[in-house]
Amino acid sequence: MEIIVTPNPEAVGEYAARRIAALIENKPDAVLGVATGSSPVPTYQALERKVRTGLDMSQVSAFALDEYVGLDEGHPQSYAEVVRRDVTERLELDPNLVHVPSGHAHDILAACEDYEAQIREAGGVDIQILGIGANGHIGFNEPSSSLSGRTRVKTLTPKTRKDNARFFDNDLSQVPTHCITQGIGTILDSRVALLVATGEGKADAVAAMAEGPMGAFCPASALQLHRRAVVVVDEAAASGLKNREYYDFVRDHRPDWQVEPQGRDERTVTSAHRRTTT
Ligand code: F6R
Repeated sequence: MEIIVTPNPEAVGEYAARRIAALIENKPDAVLGVATGSSPVPTYQALERKVRTGLDMSQVSAFALDEYVGLDEGHPQSYAEVVRRDVTERLELDPNLVHVPSGHAHDILAACEDYEAQIREAGGVDIQILGIGANGHIGFNEPSSSLSGRTRVKTLTPKTRKDNARFFDNDLSQVPTHCITQGIGTILDSRVALLVATGEGKADAVAAMAEGPMGAFCPASALQLHRRAVVVVDEAAASGLKNREYYDFVRDHRPDWQVEPQGRDERTVTSAHRRTTT
């Protein structure tokens, strides 16, 4: 796991957007996995600035991580709407290439399987953008979720519903109790997992994810198994990390061959390395 500590949320967004843009420059039809919530907003804003100055995202496709179950179609807080506003429109993606799980399908289980099939047919996710819940969830895989689960219906914890009430006029009764989420197994299949976290409220979860034992009590700790997990945090979210000095050393001594290799798999990176070192 590569841990990059930056001074503030804007710098988190800039850094993450730079890594994503490098992928898209190498692979214009890249497949992005997109998270919603507050954490990725600075990343999307920074990417939007890159689009304004020439980054072409028109061939990029995107798959959202999750969706609430039971909100009316077009509800402003449904993730279909959030993704449309914050991702598709800002980043000038082709709406036909942007996918969000359906929270009101007649056969919701079939819809979950179909979502997995769509990701496979697109060739898999090149770079999965993630936030982390204060309780360590990724996607809506709450503590105790299977570490190998696929897209399915989950029940939100009272803590997550309370945290997300801010998007529903602080009215808990409006926050859905269920969601569809990509599973941790689905997330681990992505070629690069790029998690962004900011603020002191995420410090314990970030420390448990990176330095705690791997287990379902902190679902994000499953990223310890991911072959290319990149965690970009601000100082506040990094404040619980014990091994901080080493992470900064790694960041400051990144070999040239390792710079921006996203979108290529490890074998390509390794052979590129061999080419430059033999
Ligand atoms: C949302 C998602 C969640 C959020 C997490 C953090 O698509 O997958 O895991 O990333 O709840 O939310 P914020 O960023 O609002 O603190």
